[in-house]
Amino acid sequence: MAYLIAANWKMNKTVAESIDYIKTFKELVRDLKDVDIMIAPSFTALSSVSSLISDTNINLGAQNMFYAEKGAYTGEISPIMLKELNVKYVILGHSERRHIFGEKDELINKKVHAAIEFGLRPILCVGETLEERELGKTKSVVERQIRSGIAGLEKEVSSIDIAYEPVWAIGTGVNATVEQAQEVHQFIRNLIHDISKGNDKGTRILYGGSVNEKNASELIKAKDVEGFLVGTASLDPKKFYEIILKSMEV
Ligand code: 13P
Repeated sequence: MAYLIAANWKMNKTVAESIDYIKTFKELVRDLKDVDIMIAPSFTALSSVSSLISDTNINLGAQNMFYAEKGAYTGEISPIMLKELNVKYVILGHSERRHIFGEKDELINKKVHAAIEFGLRPILCVGETLEERELGKTKSVVERQIRSGIAGLEKEVSSIDIAYEPVWAIGTGVNATVEQAQEVHQFIRNLIHDISKGNDKGTRILYGGSVNEKNASELIKAKDVEGFLVGTASLDPKKFYEIILKSMEV
């Protein structure tokens, strides 16, 4: 599997700003091969971005999704609405969804099921808080989030990517060290290998949390880091492009 380098724009960029970015970015990455590139803009920009990237090597992602196909769920977005716009990936269980909006493992699991059912590729996000790390709970938290996130999908593990995003590293400028990232990534790889009875070859384990054009070369050297989920640094097309280039050095 090619590495996946994914941009999570979070609640940034208007439609006009998104269009400007994509016009610059698609020229920068035009000739890149053997890497999967994904951008997850805001819901309001999905349609415009989708049209602009239709004949490019850029894949479209969504930052969230509800699990039902349609119905009385005010303010939610369904899998078929994303499919209609050629969305390929969907970020689920992001730490901001868990901690600001109170999403629980059980809800996230329903969303992962729905994504698979409707042919979207979930990027399941997991990661411990600083307090949990300091209490030595990193692996138990990550294990719980993964086991419940993919419960009932043991045969479909290869259709899911996982992002390890330690909460203390998100938006703080303090990235995990290569050793810290590798330790958890290796733990995740062994865990999903067990859960899937060895059918985890298609799963990429991404690292996220203050990835930038300066630390990407180092982090990607970790054996079990197979891509990045980038927030802040992905908001600048040149910086995101540089991160992609650095991740292709290995
Ligand atoms: P930052 O790159 O801004 O730390 O955000 C990481 C993240 O949450 C990506 O999903």
